[in-house]
Amino acid sequence: MSYNLLKGKRGIIFGALDENSIAWKTAERCHEEGAQIVLTNAPIAMRMGQINNLAEKTGSQIIPADATSIEDLENLVEKAMEILGGKLDFVLHSIGMSVNVRKGRKYTDQKYDWTEKGWDVSALSFHKTMQVLYQKDAMNEWGSIVALTYMAAQRVFPDYNDMADNKAYLESIARSFGYFFGKDKKVRVNTISQSPTPTTAGQGVKGFDGFIAYAEKMSPLGNATAIDCANYTVSLFSDLTKRVTLQNLYNDGGFSNVGVSNDVMETFMKE
Ligand SMILES: NC(=O)c1ccc[n+]([C@@H]2O[C@H](COP(=O)([O-])OP(=O)(O)OC[C@H]3O[C@@H](n4cnc5c(N)ncnc54)[C@H](O)[C@@H]3O)[C@@H](O)[C@H]2O)c1
Repeated sequence: MSYNLLKGKRGIIFGALDENSIAWKTAERCHEEGAQIVLTNAPIAMRMGQINNLAEKTGSQIIPADATSIEDLENLVEKAMEILGGKLDFVLHSIGMSVNVRKGRKYTDQKYDWTEKGWDVSALSFHKTMQVLYQKDAMNEWGSIVALTYMAAQRVFPDYNDMADNKAYLESIARSFGYFFGKDKKVRVNTISQSPTPTTAGQGVKGFDGFIAYAEKMSPLGNATAIDCANYTVSLFSDLTKRVTLQNLYNDGGFSNVGVSNDVMETFMKE
């Protein structure tokens, strides 16, 4: 179903790795809503090649960029404006990676150069992206920038490891940079805090299957899917949410405000 919500808008979408990626679904939905997009991902992710199918499907070009490299980001933003024929209306940051999680190091036994790498990729890259967009004056007025986050930034989820700290940092950057982007350029900046979702990054978290099932039972509306997230992001890129900014917005079926659900209680009740 298309509402033409993004007709005539142009944007960059980071982080589509395969068809499970939240960014993949978002690119498809933005295209359906009439937007022109440029896709980007880390050069190493390009080698998997799947992003080419998405580019074909959405009629978009791909510009590789490591989101931790200012040089790559500058090249990306300049080329994207050339390809799209003007300034940008939206940007999605859908990037996350923890080396400690990948290599099975516990939160209480971090290897700090891995911690720094994960922080650079997952959090600081959002500042770098916005700084490049800001300094190049690449966003149109009333444009919209969104990054994806998780509730481990507010509450403890032990196996989320150092990604919890990265997400807290990411959400803070959204507020701090969002202030300047709002004041100086009339651009809004928000984070969407998404339910656990079966993607490559999601499934990297230890015990993910139990965790997603638990969240499903806790949430009155059930877990938000990748498509739900894509739809919410489209609304934030559209002109219908012009003065929503500096927010961390939960797309989680209600999970974040539930203390306990009957479904979960049943597991603990004696006959
Ligand atoms: N899956 C979940 O359960 C869940 C829940 C809440 C939030 N999120 C967030 O959603 C976002 C998207 O993740 P996803 O679940 O779609 O998984 P995904 O694995 O499909 O996407 C993560 C992307 O980050 C990219 N990336 C990694 N290093 C990069 C770099 N240096 N430069 C550029 N890109 C790089 C990867 O190539 C990949 O495309 C992440 O921020 C993640 O933390 C995911």
